[in-house]
Amino acid sequence: MTSYSKILGTGGYLPEEIRTNEQISETVDTSDSWIFERTGIKSRRIAAPHETAASMAEIAARQAIEAANCDPDEIDLIIVATGTPEYVYPSTACLLQQRLGNKNAAAFDIQAACSGSIYALSIVDQFIKSGSAKKALIVGTEICSRIVDWTDRGTCILFGDGAGALLIGASNEAGVLSTHIHADGEFEELLYCRNSQIASIDSQDEEIGFINMRGNEVFKVAVNTLGRIVDETLEANKMAKEEIDWLVPHQANIRIIMATAKKLKMSMDQVVVTLENQGNTSSASVLLAFNEAVRDGRIKRGQVVLLEAFGAGFTWGSALIKY
Ligand code: COA
Repeated sequence: MTSYSKILGTGGYLPEEIRTNEQISETVDTSDSWIFERTGIKSRRIAAPHETAASMAEIAARQAIEAANCDPDEIDLIIVATGTPEYVYPSTACLLQQRLGNKNAAAFDIQAACSGSIYALSIVDQFIKSGSAKKALIVGTEICSRIVDWTDRGTCILFGDGAGALLIGASNEAGVLSTHIHADGEFEELLYCRNSQIASIDSQDEEIGFINMRGNEVFKVAVNTLGRIVDETLEANKMAKEEIDWLVPHQANIRIIMATAKKLKMSMDQVVVTLENQGNTSSASVLLAFNEAVRDGRIKRGQVVLLEAFGAGFTWGSALIKY
């Protein structure tokens, strides 16, 4: 019998500190109205000095584990997606495993920037379908505020911190219907963050250690690419647009999200949007949005949900699930 990956529990964590557009306007030449009109963002959360990708991951993961009514030791695979790990090694997934007291899982990180959660879901789906894992934990966790140049108005307005989690188990019922992941490394220059300690020592890049982005160009590629992945996903499942109940998109910019909704002929009432008060939390964003809509009762068991994301690399991907 086919084994599907079924979402058993969700979790999320947002740090306490709220940084508003008004506060950013005090230090860089911008305004609340400019930021809100161009991005849909009003505020974002900022991690406290003591917080790390792993500490935030633990809170989100424990929520997902509790929602799934599962014992941490039952988990046999832990994948963490992060672009802001505290350590080069060990991986954030191993730090999380230690925090959860789990001894039975394989644990590793993946780096696919803002598409990390979809990449992780795709990997987990292959492990579960092949019978190599029975219960898997996916966490996207990011402290973007520490790699943002707070003097660069083109990027500091966009990003925020947070963690989202999914606990996934093998099931005879669908489940994840399909996942689709892609990359094109040619776009390195449009969006990157070079590691300040490891980059080649003859580097002249003044922006080293910070997010560097050509926003307008990223915007155009993102809209086109996400349009194509919607077509690819529907076609792979022989599904009509009308059969999708919810769109849970990566939360980068409201105008990118609206373009994808329009492509799907979906009303914005069927789109989960969290970016107004969270900004772009990179690999955590889709998981945080999914968690919010499950917990507030919008997404119900049996409904069809399209998750999609786009990020540096470029990387992009989608997952169609029956919740
Ligand atoms: N406040 C005020 N003005 C700003 C500004 C800010 N925060 N940021 C940029 N500007 C200015 C620019 O300097 C430029 O001024 P100029 O015309 O005098 O040169 C003008 O606004 C237009 O800049 P542009 O970059 O073309 O604006 P935009 O409409 O593309 O909006 C982004 C900028 C960053 C909001 C938008 O491009 C975007 O969201 N891109 C996608 C980024 C993204 O999603 N990245 C993550 C992918 S995972």
